[in-house]
Amino acid sequence: MTFQRAVKLADLKSGRFTKAEVLGVDLCFTLCDGEVICLENSCSHMGLPIDRAEIRPDGSFECPWHGFAFKLEGGFCKTYPVYKIKTFETKIDGGEVLVDVGEGVQGD
Ligand code: FES
Repeated sequence: MTFQRAVKLADLKSGRFTKAEVLGVDLCFTLCDGEVICLENSCSHMGLPIDRAEIRPDGSFECPWHGFAFKLEGGFCKTYPVYKIKTFETKIDGGEVLVDVGEGVQGD
């Protein structure tokens, strides 16, 4: 595991995504119940960005493109379970959010 600096913790807000790119991977971050959540900024339906989605207080959101519903936790799709968005492990260090994207786009 290699954690890379991604965003400042202070820049994250509940209810919306904050975008970042780490090792060529487009990511979006948010807070849910005080936990940092990191998803790939790519809807598993057609690969379009999800960062403009509004996140509900229950931790779900709809993709802004075709309205598929997802859960932040695990990136699971409530509309069609086969469409799961990739999630990434995070940790906090000195007010910054670090994320493990493996080898990035080179490693996929
Ligand atoms: S691209 Fe997200 S639902 Fe179609």
